[in-house]
Amino acid sequence: MESADDPGAGVALPHEPEPDSAAGPSVRALRVEVGEETSRQANRRDWDRYADEYQSTHGAFLGDAGFVWGPEGFTEDRAGLLGDVTGKRVLELGCGASQCSRWVIDHGGTAVGIDLSFRQLQHSHRLDEETGTPVPVVCATATDVPFVDGSFDVVFSSFGALQFVADARAAVAEVRRVLRSGGRFVFSVTHPTRWMFPDDPTEAGLVASQSYWDRTPYVEVDDVSGAPSYVEHHRTIGDWVELLQGAGMALTGFVEPEWPEDHDRTWGGWSRTRGLLTPGTAIFVARVI
Ligand SMILES: C[S@@+](CC[C@H](N)C(=O)[O-])C[C@H]1O[C@@H](n2cnc3c(N)ncnc32)[C@H](O)[C@@H]1O
Repeated sequence: MESADDPGAGVALPHEPEPDSAAGPSVRALRVEVGEETSRQANRRDWDRYADEYQSTHGAFLGDAGFVWGPEGFTEDRAGLLGDVTGKRVLELGCGASQCSRWVIDHGGTAVGIDLSFRQLQHSHRLDEETGTPVPVVCATATDVPFVDGSFDVVFSSFGALQFVADARAAVAEVRRVLRSGGRFVFSVTHPTRWMFPDDPTEAGLVASQSYWDRTPYVEVDDVSGAPSYVEHHRTIGDWVELLQGAGMALTGFVEPEWPEDHDRTWGGWSRTRGLLTPGTAIFVARVI
């Protein structure tokens, strides 16, 4: 797990690398420019490697057919950000084991998921069999969505692809392309303000140590090969608004789920200690205009 004494601690990670563990590579964390191709290759390998641990650690919290927007446990049942999905054609980006898409199907929608990681999609198939609710999935990247124009009423992502792509403009343009006119786009990412703080769930993670406006990607570099092994890209709130507007979408909502008083689950840098004081998740809601 990313910790205070990790020299690379600096951003909120959705996974918890264990540099000294046999389960993961030994890595150094840097802030350095990397492009789309490098990000995609690194993250595909990383999510394939990490998928089993991710699902065994977080699967019960996510629920096999549950829909949470982030570590705060804010559910779509409560949020209603997708609107009534009955009869709607819905696409999930970075679906992982497709828990959220399964929720959509259980609520009357038609859902399909894409994910970069084949291993994550194998977990999706495992849950298809265990739940009896199959989700059609495709192994693909959010910057090149394998569907025709206007195929969906809703596109969403819960901590999926958006913060892993270098070319967010391409990903948002793809969302716009596959949405019908008037369609809805909803996605959650690490709250952009978290970029300022060390990725530490304790009080040490409450002291700002780097610029909110520094967009230099977070990169873990394999100690042995020297190659990037994991990449995250962060954008400011203003960046996301501009990206949505530039693609022909209007921002219709922006949600910052509060940490529930009685919620005491730590997920990487997300914890009760930090969650009661600072937002950890940002959810953007947009509509095609
Ligand atoms: C934090 S997990 C979230 C998965 C799922 N939404 C959930 O809530 O469990 C991030 C997912 O995004 C996927 N991902 C990363 N980069 C991607 C890309 N460029 N295109 C599609 N999926 C991507 C990863 O493989 C991983 O399954």
